[in-house]
Amino acid sequence: MAKRKTKYVCQDCGYESAKWMGKCPGCHNWNTLVEEMEATGLKSRHNLGVSNQVVSQPEKITQIESQKEPRITTHMKEFNRVLGGGIVPGSLVLIGGDPGIGKSTLLLQISSQLADKQLSVLYISGEESTRQTKLRADRLGIKSDALYVLAETNLFNIAKHIEAVKPALVVIDSIQTIYREEVTSAPGSVSQVRESTGELMKIAKTNGIPIFIVGHVTKEGAIAGPRMLEHMVDAVLYFEGERHHTYRILRSVKNRFGSTHEMGIFEMKEMGLREVLNPSEIFLEERSQGAAGSTVVASMEGTRPVLVEIQALVSPSSFGNPRRMATGIDHNRVPLLMAVLEKRVGLMLQNQDAYIKVAGGVKLDEPAIDLAVAISIASSFRDQPTNPEDIFIGEVGLTGEIRRVSRIEQRVQEATKLGFKRIICSKRNLDGWTPPKNITVIGVNTVQEAMETGLAR
Ligand code: TYD
Ligand code: MG
Repeated sequence: MAKRKTKYVCQDCGYESAKWMGKCPGCHNWNTLVEEMEATGLKSRHNLGVSNQVVSQPEKITQIESQKEPRITTHMKEFNRVLGGGIVPGSLVLIGGDPGIGKSTLLLQISSQLADKQLSVLYISGEESTRQTKLRADRLGIKSDALYVLAETNLFNIAKHIEAVKPALVVIDSIQTIYREEVTSAPGSVSQVRESTGELMKIAKTNGIPIFIVGHVTKEGAIAGPRMLEHMVDAVLYFEGERHHTYRILRSVKNRFGSTHEMGIFEMKEMGLREVLNPSEIFLEERSQGAAGSTVVASMEGTRPVLVEIQALVSPSSFGNPRRMATGIDHNRVPLLMAVLEKRVGLMLQNQDAYIKVAGGVKLDEPAIDLAVAISIASSFRDQPTNPEDIFIGEVGLTGEIRRVSRIEQRVQEATKLGFKRIICSKRNLDGWTPPKNITVIGVNTVQEAMETGLAR
């Protein structure tokens, strides 16, 4: 028998070393190196039930037939949009999220919707027995004949079943439970996850079958397993939301077939997930009109504008170091915007605590929300409410100038749809388009001007 070598593999980043170390030189985390057997028989992966006869040939790009990828669409418009317009055949999509957030529910619903269209789906669960999956399916009212369920964790068997069923979609729930016999480390370890994903990629590509894999999320919020897992797959979606809220957000962080930053919103009901087609209404539902410190911004989430309330609470600090906290936006923007307000507008904020919150649990990462955040801070500091029918859009520069943002027309349209009356944005955003009749668009050059317009008594 061949001599087996062991190696130490970082469970966070996949760094490999011949000897054990306390701190991983790759990602600088402590105690992440775990001993694993060097896989000896890995060359046999090419015989894993997938025929490997095709010898690839270089082709002239002009001679490759260009065809519009036919996409498989589900009944859930939100889901289709996050994927860039439906499921691409042969794609490998990773869906990550906290335990209990609803990944299995979402994928079972998607599977049944395709099965209802007479497309066969193979749902492979490594976490639940077929009986448990059936219980969930009953709860969701699923009665599709073309939906096959398999409780299996051995990848070799899985590959065999995919060959036999030839489904239009495969779901693997979850990648952390799947193992390959030739890899000796435990399921869920870096080597197992990496090797299994590589094999699934090959199955997807050679057969043109789209495969969804569920991935668990670590305490830090990253998909467990090596970082390179995200590089291997075609698309990475995160399913997130606060456990105490019923809303769930599906967000694409990588997509080879569509735009990233796209987001789909769902609501967890008794009968499973229901898509939410009018997110702005929901985010503004609990808005307290006429309260100081609250503004509304029109932010682009991928290709769709959403209106979100931004709240600020500014109060005198009782300690030497004032606190600055932010949820839903980059916390580094807060001190920066406060410094601009202090220097360019003359608000004395240095001995004030400031708390910023994006209502509804959304995360915004666009600079276009700067102005709304700044106005919220100023409004709370002065204890003076803004007009509830105003929307603030614009990036704030260090000299206090308001910079133009992209897609102003779409943002204004969404605001008009929800009955807002005034938009305050950069003057440079006024050129080249005509705003709708029932809304006033006011262009400003500086934060000072925006405050004079938005916080006038
Ligand atoms: P699940 O899909 O099992 O989460 P994950 O696969 O991400 O771990 O979701 C389980 C949660 O969803 C659980 O708390 C119960 C809730 N749920 C509903 O509220 N309604 C339903 O119809 C179903 C199936 C689950
Ligand atoms: Mg699950």
